[in-house]
Amino acid sequence: MSQFPDSPKQSASPAVRFFSGENIPLEMHKVRVVQKLNLPPVEERLAAIRRAGFNTFLLTTREVYLDMLTDSGTNAMSDMQMGAMMQADDAYAGSQSFERMRLAIEEVFGKRFVLPAHQGRAAENIICRTYVKPGDLLPMNYHFTTTLAHIELNGGKIAELLHDEALQISSSNPFKGNMDIAKLRHAITTHGVQNVPLIRMEASTNLIGGQPFSLANLREVAAVAKEHNIPLVLDASLIGENAWFIKQREPEFQQASVADILREMCAQADIVYFSSRKVSSSRGGAICTNWPEIFEKMKALIPLFEGFLTYGGMSMREIEAMAVGLRETTDETVINQSPMFIRYLVERLQAHGIPVVTPAGGLGCHVDAMSFLPHIPQKEYPAGALAAAFYLISGVRGMERGTISSTRDQHGHDILADVELLRLAFPRRVFTLSQTKYVEDRLHWLHTQRQLIGGLRFVEEPPVLRFFMGRLEAVSDWPEKLMQAFRRDFGDSL
Ligand code: F0G
Repeated sequence: MSQFPDSPKQSASPAVRFFSGENIPLEMHKVRVVQKLNLPPVEERLAAIRRAGFNTFLLTTREVYLDMLTDSGTNAMSDMQMGAMMQADDAYAGSQSFERMRLAIEEVFGKRFVLPAHQGRAAENIICRTYVKPGDLLPMNYHFTTTLAHIELNGGKIAELLHDEALQISSSNPFKGNMDIAKLRHAITTHGVQNVPLIRMEASTNLIGGQPFSLANLREVAAVAKEHNIPLVLDASLIGENAWFIKQREPEFQQASVADILREMCAQADIVYFSSRKVSSSRGGAICTNWPEIFEKMKALIPLFEGFLTYGGMSMREIEAMAVGLRETTDETVINQSPMFIRYLVERLQAHGIPVVTPAGGLGCHVDAMSFLPHIPQKEYPAGALAAAFYLISGVRGMERGTISSTRDQHGHDILADVELLRLAFPRRVFTLSQTKYVEDRLHWLHTQRQLIGGLRFVEEPPVLRFFMGRLEAVSDWPEKLMQAFRRDFGDSL
């Protein structure tokens, strides 16, 4: 498939078309509970981003207008989820809430055995402690930050096996998250099958811009895994969106329901784990499988690290919300919400000549900081600088996904990231179209002022996952200059 795949005309989904021909993301829900927002003036935002060490993770929500840091734990819950939370069966062991969640997982993912974990990285801890030993290699389409950290903590290494085109920012490839099968075979042969404990596929590959893989590719990966008797692990944290993209973009599945696609995806994997903070608009996470021996292998670690086998660190209310949320993931009008808003913003930014990852993916709109700020060298963290600058001029909090999110090599040099992205996440059903247009407007202005933005350098750098708590400073007085330009052009506007 070469054509850009998401136009509603090609879609088998019952999308509403507009007389104007515009691609407007139409909400199939109404807002019944609201939360008041605050937009502090630009002077306060400058003080706030300084206090935060130019790291948007260290801002407080009081200082933020639109929180586009992540969709993790911030998706809107449905009335059905909130209602279900009231039925929580609080019990340390044998809770009926857990049984309802287990049944939901069996129905949606087709997996019978469920190990609860308090969030996605906790599931990764259990899986990596069980399977990864020093010297092991884990082939995957692409890493996620917490996954890589857990693999390295256990002495393993990763091989990222995306096909060569996947890291091109601007592309019409509908499945940039696909794994290159030839590279997979090569990695297994050269490293030795005995040193490859797992093969990992990540749905809607987060760090390359929420890009999906195709079911055809997943089936091929599964066939290679089976041939070598290596368990295939599916990170299903963003599986709903990946399933929706499969329905939109893979001809074989145009008439299939999202529920069928989800089950078919999970059927390929021996182990499915997920951050429920993302997939089901609730909180928590889990590992699931149909293999009793895999379940038994990891079972003992759950009470040690998470909690008893029927709660795994989650409250029963979370578990009830997760059961309902998982079923809602099969509803196309729920899971298409983020991708449709993302596509809208991507198209609008493209119209202004702003470099963004295409095709539009899941999770968020990803701005290419390397070409937005070609004058900032990668060692001065262009994506981090763009995230800080964008917060300063808009109050919108995005997330750096570039070299700050990477690590250093054994000589202390930054391992430069493949891509430098500013991620503007769209938590499901949270933001309105006018708020999306505000993001477009402010980014458009910032693009016209991009020469004013300068780099960053670390002043405090934690050794692991430094992007969470690291503090940086501006390499010059560019933040003041940018603020003055804002005042010049916007007067006393917030
Ligand atoms: N896997 C993927 C693909 C993820 O996107 C995340 C989290 C995790 C695992 C870890 O799950 O946060 O529940 O421990 N992604 C969040 C994000 C943090 O902002 O992209 P967790």
